[in-house]
Amino acid sequence: MLKTPVIVLNMKTYTESTGKNALDIAKMMDKVSIETGINMAVSVQSIDIKECSDNISIPVFAEHIDPIKPGSHTGWILPEAVKSVGAVGSLINHSEHRLNLADIDFCISRAKELDLDQIVCSNNILTSKAIATLSPNFLAVEPPELIGGDISVTTANPDIVSGSVNAVKDIDDDVKVLCGAGVKNGVDVARAIELGSVGVLLASGIIKSKNKEKIIRDLISEL
Ligand code: G3P
Repeated sequence: MLKTPVIVLNMKTYTESTGKNALDIAKMMDKVSIETGINMAVSVQSIDIKECSDNISIPVFAEHIDPIKPGSHTGWILPEAVKSVGAVGSLINHSEHRLNLADIDFCISRAKELDLDQIVCSNNILTSKAIATLSPNFLAVEPPELIGGDISVTTANPDIVSGSVNAVKDIDDDVKVLCGAGVKNGVDVARAIELGSVGVLLASGIIKSKNKEKIIRDLISEL
């Protein structure tokens, strides 16, 4: 299982983090993680999983899996397929790729069957509670309105982080909570940990920056 505290970089579908660019950033995360001993992971488009997992040692996640078993599902992402090319887990229900509750449940079950980690995203405390009842190993709370913005969730809405941590703990103490949206620097990461989360899920803070390695190092500077 993903070790914590952890910094998870979600590459999304930015040009700057697709294909060869995804691999370059993944290698940077890998290098800094090995050098500092801080846990890091990357979440990449399914098309980039193999190249990244073949070339780095930190965990590689799929950005999405679909609620299916092998069979006739043209164009969908089969959990077995992401595992076979080296993913150790998947994001599920990211705000940019939402699923209904029944499908989230099915994806979590399929991932568990295949021994894939599950980082299930939630948009508020109520959704965090609903997801906690499904017992994924990780839940990531990210208010959609702060995603891609300049203000970190830990500053703009710290209560959603601590509120999710407390609510989840009451339902299933084994579910670890991450937080994300607008996370940009070491102070944001330190605050995320203070609020009770086990790490952050971030994207644009690294991907859109000119000096990515500097940002990666800054993110872990307060840990
Ligand atoms: O999955 C991470 C994410 O949605 C947060 O994005 O750009 O606000 O770090 P960003």
